[in-house]
Amino acid sequence: MAKIKEKINSRGDYSNVKHRTIFHDLLDNRSLPEGDKSVKRFSQESQLLLVAGTVTTATALASAIVYLLLDEKRLQVLLEELEAAVS
Ligand code: HEM
Repeated sequence: MAKIKEKINSRGDYSNVKHRTIFHDLLDNRSLPEGDKSVKRFSQESQLLLVAGTVTTATALASAIVYLLLDEKRLQVLLEELEAAVS
């Protein structure tokens, strides 16, 4: 938390950064109340993004693998497609 705060405070003018992130756009958004642009809020949002993006994807992949292992025919089709794509 302290590290994030330090990073944000030391950033200064970020209008020309090479790699803009969702947080730069949030900071620049005029319709977003200033109270919603705090380090605490951004830290919470980044945790939410991380969880929303990882648990969902992991569950989708795990489910797909289970169904594929139960379905020899479709598993074979997928393996052939992967083989063709990487060779
Ligand atoms: C298989 C993968 C995924 C599934 C099944 C999934 C599913 C969903 C669903 C159903 C919602 C709507 C929840 C609601 O409005 O009640 C949602 C919202 C959201 N998802 Fe995903 N998601 C996936 C991947 C991701 C990834 C990769 C990210 C970000 C890196 C992400 C970020 C978000 C965020 C930020 C919201 C909230 C959007 C809002 O505020 O309206 N999701 N997701």
